[in-house]
Amino acid sequence: MISKPAKTQVPIHELIAQRWSPRAFDDQKNVSHEQLIALLEAARWAPSCFGDEPWRYMVWNKHNDYEAWQCAFDCLSEGNQLWVRYAPVLLLATSASHFRHNGSPNRWAAYDTGAASENICLQATAMGLHAHQMGGFNAEKIQEAFSIPAEYHCMAMIAIGHQAEPGMLDDILTQRELAERTREPLSSRFFANAWGMGITAHTHEF
Ligand SMILES: Cc1cc2nc3c(=O)[nH]c(=O)nc-3n(C[C@H](O)[C@H](O)[C@H](O)COP(=O)(O)O)c2cc1C
Repeated sequence: MISKPAKTQVPIHELIAQRWSPRAFDDQKNVSHEQLIALLEAARWAPSCFGDEPWRYMVWNKHNDYEAWQCAFDCLSEGNQLWVRYAPVLLLATSASHFRHNGSPNRWAAYDTGAASENICLQATAMGLHAHQMGGFNAEKIQEAFSIPAEYHCMAMIAIGHQAEPGMLDDILTQRELAERTREPLSSRFFANAWGMGITAHTHEF
């Protein structure tokens, strides 16, 4: 199986370094009930503004309810369907538009839901599973198909399962699967003291 650890200037925690978003999933290997609950618990314990826990997730397991999984799958973009068809589990992350405690708009809901989803991805990595988040789906279609109330915004779908050999994918996807993972340099995204003052491993004034 491929491992594509993050290349960093100083060591980071292995769990974070090892997480990545594969497309080759093993159709035959299911995610156990206990693993699924662990993934959801990981999201549940994410921090959130005012402790609102604005996320709501839907879960579909191909091996338990194929029809429902297929209905969720049908909402994905064609490009994502090419590889998600092998993933046993699909999740949908939604976030509430308003706070529970005072009904005012919650502008941190997407931020909090993203944190919960990353918890899921890291928990998956810790358990030897893989998770791949997707924005490529029809939000209106899935909202209607599953009667998701309008106050919940559909943020991302997440494919989860066991990794398979990249050769199972078509040529283009196999190339992507084998491609190096890259990131912009630290200094282009992280600033010390003033906007644009890029941080490097050698910056000490912060
Ligand atoms: C919100 C979000 C939406 C994404 N949408 C897609 C998608 O529709 N299809 C896809 O193949 N990957 C999608 N990705 C995966 C990213 O392409 C991937 O995380 C990024 O290239 C970095 O690669 P890595 O996760 O392996 O580090 C998405 C990731 C996030 C967080």
